[in-house]
Amino acid sequence: MLTIYSRIVVPYDHSELSKKALQSAMTLAKQDIKIELYVLMVIQPEITIAYQQTNTRENQREAFGEVRNIIEKKLSVLPNRTRTFVLEGNPPSLIVDFVKEHDGDLIVMGSRGLSGLKELFLGSVSHYVVQKAPCPVLVVK
Ligand SMILES: Nc1ncnc2c1ncn2[C@@H]1O[C@H](COP(=O)(O)OP(=O)(O)O)[C@@H](O)[C@H]1O
Ligand SMILES: [Mg+2]
Repeated sequence: MLTIYSRIVVPYDHSELSKKALQSAMTLAKQDIKIELYVLMVIQPEITIAYQQTNTRENQREAFGEVRNIIEKKLSVLPNRTRTFVLEGNPPSLIVDFVKEHDGDLIVMGSRGLSGLKELFLGSVSHYVVQKAPCPVLVVK
């Protein structure tokens, strides 16, 4: 029985590594039905003009809405309590605040996300979360 972690939070952006992170978190949750699994997707406010065409809040809302359905279906195979959240704000600080508010005791996330920049080991979101999280962070790579 794995009782050390009881509420796992997976920050999820639908990147390949976040899919892998969710898979790892589900494997952990299967160890004990008492482990709860929260998946959190953060919609970003529009930042730059160039980005806006394809990444308006509306587009992101629609995309994350579809992703949420896919994730909920995936999670439904678990007997554990699971929840999904789509929130809007600055992803790194929102993730940390969310974990504090919801008493998460383990974060499972990807080392990289959607940006496609490969020269650094950690993306900006994972870098921030590892530093500021109130609990252990499992960084999947
Ligand atoms: N908008 C977001 N909402 C939820 N989780 C996110 C978001 N962006 C990134 N993440 C999480 O952070 C991990 C690392 O992504 P990130 O630091 O953004 O790297 P990159 O710079 O390569 O995009 C992802 O695999 C995912 O787990
Ligand atoms: Mg990113």
